[in-house]
Amino acid sequence: MKIAVLAGDGIGPEVTREAVRVLEALRLPGMVLFEGDVGGAAYKRHGHPLPAETLELVRTCDAILFGAVGDPDCDNLERHLRPEQAILGLRKEMGLFANLRPAKLFKGLEDASALRPEVASAIDLLIVRELNGDVYFGEKGMRTLPDGRRQGWDMMAYAEDEVRRIAHVGFKAAMGRARRLCSVDKANVLETSQLWRDVVIEVAREYPEVELSHMYVDNAAMQLVRNPGQFDVVVTGNLFGDILSDQASMCVGSIGLLASASLSQGTLGLYEPIHGSAPDIAGQGKANPLATILSAAMLLRHSLHLDAEASRIEAAVAKALADGVRGGDLGGTMGTAAIGDAVLERLT
Ligand code: NAD
Ligand code: IPM
Ligand code: MN
Repeated sequence: MKIAVLAGDGIGPEVTREAVRVLEALRLPGMVLFEGDVGGAAYKRHGHPLPAETLELVRTCDAILFGAVGDPDCDNLERHLRPEQAILGLRKEMGLFANLRPAKLFKGLEDASALRPEVASAIDLLIVRELNGDVYFGEKGMRTLPDGRRQGWDMMAYAEDEVRRIAHVGFKAAMGRARRLCSVDKANVLETSQLWRDVVIEVAREYPEVELSHMYVDNAAMQLVRNPGQFDVVVTGNLFGDILSDQASMCVGSIGLLASASLSQGTLGLYEPIHGSAPDIAGQGKANPLATILSAAMLLRHSLHLDAEASRIEAAVAKALADGVRGGDLGGTMGTAAIGDAVLERLT
């Protein structure tokens, strides 16, 4: 059980440290952690956000625990050298195409949600976000038009096999839950989305027990705050999934709570909070580490098949929140390490 720990930039190392403490506290026989450089930190040390050494390390590992990348000092670098290329590169290079982002309201957080408590209480959804395609990975460029105006462009595209494999992930996830799948697209405007919708409908024939619905992304953004309890599994493309998952995080209280798993067709998985490096609070010990701790639980469940241990972590987090453990993001005063301590104390 080899785990690569890639802490990255900003609050990445701060939140990853707490998740590592929790993993180590479980004293799992045979679990070994290896640290690697990614992001702006890797650029400063090796001249590249995803150095060859790090790629070699992850190729020998069963799973990756990832913090966050992004550094304002690097925002003017050529795009291929920017910190964000580390996570995009890992997702693409390792074939991590299926991103699971669960959002559920924890007991005790009813008043922390940006929604009314009775609306928020019903939230128990899973966003299945495609991670290897869409406008993220199409050709892009900057050019000067004949009339002298500058133009930036990014190609949005999905091939049918890319849609098919993520649709299967969505349907399978729905089979293990409430058997409702909502596919979110913009088929009223985009050809990319029309193909998406057509392929999802084709795949649906293999899952007659799943109730499939389709929703345009603008309506989905609205429904997510109007009545989020209607959603079980949401399957969507890379860009829409990125945006909707940040929105879902505030519906359950904070972006500091949402964990994710990025899975491939092979055995490797990457686990990371959905948030970024939060430069505005980095280095201050203020970040909420719960999203990363919950990502470590997802790692145990999905990559190492240690369901009981994953549940131990999730139960400790739930207990901590029920007991009133709150960082600044949830209106409290506790710092990163104190929140980590609170989880460790409740690990049974
Ligand atoms: P962000 O998620 O880093 O921060 C958004 C806001 O949420 C900030 O106010 C921040 O303080 C707060 N926040 C985020 N995580 C928190 C936590 N754990 N506890 C408390 N508050 C938290 O998004 P951004 O500001 O748009 O981006 C900052 C940098 O992170 C950028 O360089 C961006 O590209 C990068 N980013 C990286 C990832 C990733 O590594 N997967 C994800 C998102 C953004
Ligand atoms: C995320 C982030 C990334 C994304 C960025 C940093 C490339 O926002 O993991 O949600 O857009 O996928
Ligand atoms: Mn994002």
